[in-house]
Amino acid sequence: MTATTGSEGQGAASTGADGDIKNRFANWETNEEHPVHHAATIRNRVPIWENLQQIFQERYWGAGKEGISVLELASGTGAHVEYFAGKDRRVWWQQTDYKLSTVPLDEENVAKPVELDLIKVADEADSEGSEGYMEGMLKKLEEGKRDFNVVYTCNLCHIAPIECTENIFKHVIPGLEKGQGGKGVDLLVIYGPFRTDEEGSNLTEDDWEFDKGLKEKDPGYGIRNMRDLEKLAEQWTGMELKETREMPKGNFLLVFGKK
Ligand SMILES: C[S@@+](CC[C@H](N)C(=O)[O-])C[C@H]1O[C@@H](n2cnc3c(N)ncnc32)[C@H](O)[C@@H]1O
Repeated sequence: MTATTGSEGQGAASTGADGDIKNRFANWETNEEHPVHHAATIRNRVPIWENLQQIFQERYWGAGKEGISVLELASGTGAHVEYFAGKDRRVWWQQTDYKLSTVPLDEENVAKPVELDLIKVADEADSEGSEGYMEGMLKKLEEGKRDFNVVYTCNLCHIAPIECTENIFKHVIPGLEKGQGGKGVDLLVIYGPFRTDEEGSNLTEDDWEFDKGLKEKDPGYGIRNMRDLEKLAEQWTGMELKETREMPKGNFLLVFGKK
């Protein structure tokens, strides 16, 4: 695998835009010289969408469902939803990040991005009875737009403290279940480079270099072991790893679903 993606710095890129990138930027869908997004994200959004489409077809459209709602974690500059939104209007997208730097989108099926900090999400309701972080975050959303079928995140796990990954399982998934009257989400979809075992026996020399570079940047970063994510799902959610889709350049799309 040549592990992908850009640095966290991409999240700080200036949107600088008038929200009209599509009209003023040639071949915007696949042009890797995008004025805002990282080239790796432009490359990976096409195969990611192909896979999401298959998953949604199988799980929802094929079963007669007419629309679904997806909560994206760590949206960064918003390269994915920018591409996905127009592909299928049956999908409602809610982007989030702890630093909001998403390019503004004028799409009928995309909500205004909101802050969701995967560290702060662990803040529980205090003894004074104030609400927990997830509850507060959901309340910021328009009524009728707070019930999610799917949680999706891309290239977060290796470029953020491990608590961010842990808290998806410990707090985001259970928090949504609570906020959605016990219904909970059906799927959690996570994209990125992963070790398939503790030793990282699937990693190439390039991957080890990438992993080393990440750790030099921050000792808390690094390519995670997907087995640890399975354990987190087992421990904190009613989910299990249903599918491990192999993606270009050795990345994976991990699909967790209810048992
Ligand atoms: C490599 S970027 C990926 C961005 C986007 N998903 C993509 O693939 O282009 C990692 C993202 O994780 C976000 N992130 C880091 N720490 C976070 C936290 N505590 N809560 C939420 N997002 C966080 C960063 O702001 C950044 O947008």
